[in-house]
Amino acid sequence: MPENPYDNPRFFARYRAMPRSVGGLQAAGEWHALRRLLPDLRDKRVLDLGCGFGWHCRYAAEQGARRVVGVDVSERMLAEARAKTTTPLIEYVQRPIEEIDYPEGAFDVVLSSLALHYVASFEDVCRRVARCLAGGGDFVFSVEHPVFTARGDQEWHRDAEGNILHWPVDRYFQEGLREAVFLGERMTKYHRTLTTYVDTLLAAGFSLHRLVEPQPPEHLMDQPGMRDELRRPLMLLIAARRAAGHGAAHP
Ligand SMILES: C[S@@+](CC[C@H](N)C(=O)[O-])C[C@H]1O[C@@H](n2cnc3c(N)ncnc32)[C@H](O)[C@@H]1O
Repeated sequence: MPENPYDNPRFFARYRAMPRSVGGLQAAGEWHALRRLLPDLRDKRVLDLGCGFGWHCRYAAEQGARRVVGVDVSERMLAEARAKTTTPLIEYVQRPIEEIDYPEGAFDVVLSSLALHYVASFEDVCRRVARCLAGGGDFVFSVEHPVFTARGDQEWHRDAEGNILHWPVDRYFQEGLREAVFLGERMTKYHRTLTTYVDTLLAAGFSLHRLVEPQPPEHLMDQPGMRDELRRPLMLLIAARRAAGHGAAHP
């Protein structure tokens, strides 16, 4: 398994204390928008890439999904997911997203929340997802927004008193690896342009269904730093659909 910052005990302890790690989907600033992009999950076979604590897997199970598989590379994240899960409907698998290799048409919905910017090749992810998604199936995901990932250090520019001046965007068209600092730890992420996200999906045979740059809802504004999230996009949400007629369609 490649080394993953989420298995670093210091980082994990900080991640676990974040409001969205404690409060789950209701405490996540983009959930109100992501939920609206998901299809009806009743009786669906759902794959969650980079499932973390399994919030989206449990949501899928609650919505009546027939089978849910959560894939994550981190042992610690999966241990927490398993501890939080009571239904036997969900299977958690420790595996890098880069290595998923499910049979053709094995899932009706593939979702991923804030994990794909950790993967070097989005093209390869799209190929693997397209293969395991039944015809007419949905690929719904969130990633850190290209405006957020472009420069790499992921810090506001501030004045001498520490007040926010602006969010710096640079090297936008220079795609690839970035060394970011998240919760005090250095980690590797990948920057891609908006064009690359959309065009790669289209080239892999998906149609674009929805694209959303969500703003956090008013009721989360008391979370530290949340109001600043109204100043620039943090996330990009995309709902794409595999052409019907591909793979073994779900009856
Ligand atoms: C920001 S967390 C999001 C977790 C969850 N999807 C959520 O929204 O609550 C990112 C997750 O992606 C996982 N991850 C990062 N790179 C990965 C990779 N290459 N393969 C599988 N999982 C990965 C991390 O271990 C972590 O659990």
